[in-house]
Amino acid sequence: MSAQGKIGVFDSGFGGLHTLRHLVGALPTYAYVYLGDSARAPYGPRTTDEVYVFSTQSVDFLLACGCELIIFACNTASSVALRKIQQEYLPTKYADKRVLGVSVPLAEAAATVTRNKRIGVIATEGTVRSGVFEREIHKLDPSIKIFQQAAPHLVTLIEAGEHDSEQLRETLVKYLQPLIDASIDTLILGCTHFGLIIDTIKSVVGPQITVVSESYAEPRALAAYLTRHPEIDERLSHDGKTNFYTTDTTDKFDRLGSIFFGRAIVSEKISL
Ligand code: DGL
Repeated sequence: MSAQGKIGVFDSGFGGLHTLRHLVGALPTYAYVYLGDSARAPYGPRTTDEVYVFSTQSVDFLLACGCELIIFACNTASSVALRKIQQEYLPTKYADKRVLGVSVPLAEAAATVTRNKRIGVIATEGTVRSGVFEREIHKLDPSIKIFQQAAPHLVTLIEAGEHDSEQLRETLVKYLQPLIDASIDTLILGCTHFGLIIDTIKSVVGPQITVVSESYAEPRALAAYLTRHPEIDERLSHDGKTNFYTTDTTDKFDRLGSIFFGRAIVSEKISL
């Protein structure tokens, strides 16, 4: 019998669909299950305990769907809950399953790209507070300087459909100017949503700054992981199907989600 295992992709909402779009684009034969916890988004301002509990519920759901491997596309969940899930939750409940995050691939990509060793980060408050990028980048090269900027209003603007408006540009300049002034040469988009406005961000920071996003880092990281772990890879289905689940109403999720995913999606509502 052919392998049945799926790859789960979890986000607080629909931002992770932008990451999924690039995963499916790069690795189209695998079977994916997407879960967006939109009813409880945004995660950015939530406490560590809340994000941890919500993330474990999402892991339970995705594993019950037949996932062998889960990717936290959500930077907030990756930075504040992932380590505890990997070290405490999985070993006691699901020892043969794996959960990966986006912070390490983003940190590795940025550390490889920087020339002047000055990296900027824009992310939610939760991700900035966690210090995850500083920690992960310093494991690779302690001499790199990190400049972080919480960008709480961007998620709201992007969800309101502002992808290149004057208001969005003004907000971006406010958040990015201190990083430009710090002479960064590399900028990490440390939030699922920001990939959708990468062109606007690039036009604000200019060509001298390389922008590193999930859509760049995550497909490479997943492909490399599956090569390093044939014991996981061989449990994965190649039926090429993708299923979408949301904790919120499906009409809003499908409408906004289709913009992030780049084509029409039909989701199913679940409760966690
Ligand atoms: N998915 C979140 C992240 O990547 C952004 C939206 C939120 O705050 O929930 O951090």
